[in-house]
Amino acid sequence: MSSISPQQLAVVVAEALAAITGAATGDELKQVRTQFVADGSPISVINSTLRDVPAAEKAEAGKIVGQARSEINQAFAARESVILQAEEHARLMTESVDVTAVASRHRVGARHPLNLLMEEMSNIFVGMGWEIAEGPELENEWFNFDALNFDEDHPARAMQDTFFVEPVDRHLVMRTHTSPVQIRSLLTRELPVYIVAPGRVYRTDELDATHTPVFHQMEGIAIDKGLTMAHLKGTLEHLARAMFGEGAKIRLRPNYFPFTEPSAELDIWHPTFRGGARWIEWGGCGMVNPNVLRAADIDPAEYQGFAFGMGIERTLMFRNDVADMHDMVEGDVRFSQQFGMVI
Ligand code: FA5
Ligand code: MG
Repeated sequence: MSSISPQQLAVVVAEALAAITGAATGDELKQVRTQFVADGSPISVINSTLRDVPAAEKAEAGKIVGQARSEINQAFAARESVILQAEEHARLMTESVDVTAVASRHRVGARHPLNLLMEEMSNIFVGMGWEIAEGPELENEWFNFDALNFDEDHPARAMQDTFFVEPVDRHLVMRTHTSPVQIRSLLTRELPVYIVAPGRVYRTDELDATHTPVFHQMEGIAIDKGLTMAHLKGTLEHLARAMFGEGAKIRLRPNYFPFTEPSAELDIWHPTFRGGARWIEWGGCGMVNPNVLRAADIDPAEYQGFAFGMGIERTLMFRNDVADMHDMVEGDVRFSQQFGMVI
């Protein structure tokens, strides 16, 4: 039989309370629990001796041990809640966003000026009620040449201009211009047709200051009743002014394309050209050849129209005074960023 000493109990409580108050962090509090609160701690050891206390003292001993335990438990719970709150607060503080901080920046990309230019040009036509059309870059020879009235032995078909795709008997080429979209549009759309088709084209040209083997064109075709060369010229003048301002000047020079008749080379006046103001070839155009209309099952006696196709790289060259096409194809984002084209 043993009895419980109130003095000993007071010491145990005092030590436990001191440890609880002294705990500053959740981790420290955990140790305090093991040492002063949990099974095996002095207070729980004393508690387990209650069963050995003589019957006469049991009620009194149970009461003071119970009080001591609850004092320790309450102090522990109170401390625990204070520490948890403080730690939560500290965590939120470090996690909070400082909107005034200088960000460590990842460089964003930029849309390529050529793509933006094609979009800008397309939008001018969309504003006039035209639609955007597309065609594949890997194209049937028939669409790229035959339907466009190219002779079997036209020089443009020769191996040195066109990328033929093997096996050659499948008659697939990397399209050499956007003009096959003329045929595709006429075959699939209801008349009248007013479309522009921006896109990538391929030729076996060497890369130099004004040529690249992969470049972009924008095709346009309008087929309706009663369209004339005057509509063609008016449309191109509108485009030039919308792109380059009211002072923009274009000129049409007689030329030959198998798919237009008459045909013209489209030049644009470049007033700030390095080495002096001059006319620059922008594209080709003309009245759609009746043979092209027939290839698309359209009666040339009823419908006529015009078509044009210009180089986008050339357009960018004279719009932004880019002297060398190399810059456009090398893919350095700093080139795009010069145009303020960061997204
Ligand atoms: C054509 O491609 C015709 N399809 C244009 C056309 C459409 C005529 C509709 C009539 C009716 P051309 O080969 O001239 O034409 O090319 C048109 C434009 O593409 C040129 O004026 C030039 O601006 C651009 N271009 C041609 N070759 C290159 C090249 N290697 N690199 C960059 N731009 C080029
Ligand atoms: Mg040409």
